[in-house]
Amino acid sequence: MDILKDKKVLLGVTGGIAAYKACELARLFRKAGAQVRAVMTPAACEFVTPLTLSALTGHETALEMFGSSGNIDHIELARWADLLVIAPATANTLAKIAHGIADNLLTSIALATTSPKLVAPAMNCAMYANQATGENLRILEARGVHIVGPDTGYQACGETGAGRMSEPDAIFRRAAEILLVPQQSHRMVVTAGPTEEMIDPVRCITNLSSGRMGYALAQAAAIMGWKVTLISGPVAIPEPVAVEVVRVRTAAEMMDAAWSAAKSAECFIGCAAVSDYRPQTVAPQKIKKSSGENLKLVLTENPDIVRTVAALDDLFTVGFAAETDNVLAYAREKLKSKGLDMIVANDVSGSETGFNSTDNAATVIVADGSEVAFDRMSKELLAQEIISIINGRIGASGSEEGI
Ligand code: PMT
Repeated sequence: MDILKDKKVLLGVTGGIAAYKACELARLFRKAGAQVRAVMTPAACEFVTPLTLSALTGHETALEMFGSSGNIDHIELARWADLLVIAPATANTLAKIAHGIADNLLTSIALATTSPKLVAPAMNCAMYANQATGENLRILEARGVHIVGPDTGYQACGETGAGRMSEPDAIFRRAAEILLVPQQSHRMVVTAGPTEEMIDPVRCITNLSSGRMGYALAQAAAIMGWKVTLISGPVAIPEPVAVEVVRVRTAAEMMDAAWSAAKSAECFIGCAAVSDYRPQTVAPQKIKKSSGENLKLVLTENPDIVRTVAALDDLFTVGFAAETDNVLAYAREKLKSKGLDMIVANDVSGSETGFNSTDNAATVIVADGSEVAFDRMSKELLAQEIISIINGRIGASGSEEGI
């Protein structure tokens, strides 16, 4: 998914051993659809070559204050950037930008830009622990500069402590939050993944939901300007960016989290595969095997989350219907019986779509009777289609503006 489509990221690289990780960071920004330009300090060029970053960004790496083009590069680049990310940011560069020193292209851009700035400190642990560095970081933070890391661990100098640059993925996520969150307004809640209903301390009833469909919906909505709370059952996939994630285990926990988040939301999507039943009692100790005897579990019904929140006023409520037969008929019936505004009929009879697959195919059914069928496509693309339909519906109903 092009999380940062049309965003312009200026990547400043300074002279530390972590400069090699800036290459991966540039790749992550490009992969997310951002335009990226790199600026390197003279010391950074001792660690990685400008050519490497030019190849990764698709733009010539900027190095000089006064190029041959006749342009004033630091002003042009300072205006171009939606976000200036300095990774790694050495103690020296942090000190300079904290005190307004502009003695190279990068520090001049940092002084000239009015765009948000994110720095990823990286230095030897003693330099990081030095009071001067601490004060410089506090000055920057007080001025609204975002700081990510540093991490603690083994350092290239052989010491162990705080000062390692955060991993590129963590820097990327923070940058994406800075770029996306200010554009998010209306609130949406998405449930995703399975629930786990405990039988005894080590066994549970669950299902094959991977969380992919719900996570893709949350990510698509966050990119399209929704402030998203994702209520997730236990899954093993990366969290979407610029999304608040609430982790739960059981249907009862999901119900509580969904109810408190839905009360202030404009839209709710129930994509989770919630267990309809749970064991009536949870055995306090591991249940022992009794050879030759059947084990009987008594199950009791869980609350229906999507039906409960659908009763809230002014909440556009979307359910999913996972069916293996009579898919459309059962989905239309669930749309009515649960009091929903829209339902996504999901044929889960095969292994290529539905549970635990990368692709999905579905029919979106709206309460006014209109239906749109989507053939097999990635869950990311389907999520974008579903969120677009919701945006159109809520906009068309006149209850929301600007979504
Ligand atoms: O997670 P993935 O591997 O990507 O798979 C995606 C998916 C197949 C799980 C997803 O696309 C999907 O179909 N989710 C709904 C699964 C489901 O439980 O469907 P259902 O027909 O049993 O439930 C109907 C609706 O009621 C759903 O919106 C469900 O979230 C909701 N429900 C069900 C029971 C309950 N106690 N509370 C609920 O809110």
